[in-house]
Amino acid sequence: MPKKILVLGRDGQLGFELRRSLAPLGHVVATGRSDCDLTYPLQIARLVGREKPDIIVNAAAFTAVERAEEDTVRAMRINAEAAGELAALAAARGALIVHYSSDYVFDGAKLGAYTEQDTPAPLNVYGRSKLAGEHAVQAMNPAHLVLRTSWIYGVFGSSFLKTMLMAVRQPEPLRVVSDQRGAPTGAAFIADATALMLARYLTRPAGEPFPFGLYHLAASGDASWHEYACFIAQQARRAGLAVTLTPADIRAVPSDQYPTTARRPLNSRLDSRLLERTFGIHVPHWEEGVVHALAAIADSRNLA
Ligand SMILES: NC(=O)c1ccc[n+]([C@@H]2O[C@H](COP(=O)([O-])OP(=O)(O)OC[C@H]3O[C@@H](n4cnc5c(N)ncnc54)[C@H](OP(=O)(O)O)[C@@H]3O)[C@@H](O)[C@H]2O)c1
Repeated sequence: MPKKILVLGRDGQLGFELRRSLAPLGHVVATGRSDCDLTYPLQIARLVGREKPDIIVNAAAFTAVERAEEDTVRAMRINAEAAGELAALAAARGALIVHYSSDYVFDGAKLGAYTEQDTPAPLNVYGRSKLAGEHAVQAMNPAHLVLRTSWIYGVFGSSFLKTMLMAVRQPEPLRVVSDQRGAPTGAAFIADATALMLARYLTRPAGEPFPFGLYHLAASGDASWHEYACFIAQQARRAGLAVTLTPADIRAVPSDQYPTTARRPLNSRLDSRLLERTFGIHVPHWEEGVVHALAAIADSRNLA
């Protein structure tokens, strides 16, 4: 009997890629907000009761970092309470839960990349809600994989990369923050790495312990948002996409000249070596994934 994998967040960047990457592992049931609104505990219980999954992969989240500052209750409900309920329902069935978290659980004060041993100290509501979600999942189900990632982009969905692709087509010069550093990480890579971890889980010999736990899962290397924007402008042109601006038209500005409601960490770098060692997963440089995504976006626009 193929295993049943329930994916939540079907219509997000990561959910879209998970539908592809998990397909060879079993029977994937991918759900969106219209099937199950995570605001309502009863809808979550009904979904899990109906689908009876062997694995739950939760890629749904309240990801609007600015809006979370005003809508704390909703951010906490979706990112923390609902995540805990999913984990508890999975535990009751003997199912594994995979849950995604964020670099924004850290305050960014560390000089090097953050490891799983570093103490989180979120600066904003979104980060606090994601940290509470980690704790809820860990408390409710020992059979968990909590995967922290950063700066997600994809061929599908909204992201900084998509915003920049629109912006570099316009004639007006841009100002982009240059003092926050992190690793742009492709939704396709996160989904593929998840599939490799789940393949290991599904094929483990009976009685062999599985390395459940918390892992960092972000591309290697790092960039500022400004360096990332310049790279997008250059590579989008190479990929044949419409680009008016050159990197010289993209001005570097410090965060304090670009005020936002939510404070953001200056250092968002995540050290993914534990994941590499434990699961034998190669973590590619962020530039590789961005080049690939831009080629795929150019390809899809040529067909359109
Ligand atoms: N994006 C990033 O840069 C980033 C960085 C680090 C970590 N993460 C984490 O990585 C995971 C995947 O992120 P992503 O970029 O793929 O997110 P995304 O594109 O914003 O997708 C999130 C999905 O969650 C769904 N959702 C939101 N509220 C819901 C609700 N009440 N009920 C049911 N579904 C709901 C959304 O549904 P609708 O389509 O109906 O709105 C959307 O499809 C999340 O856990 C996120 O916190 C993201």
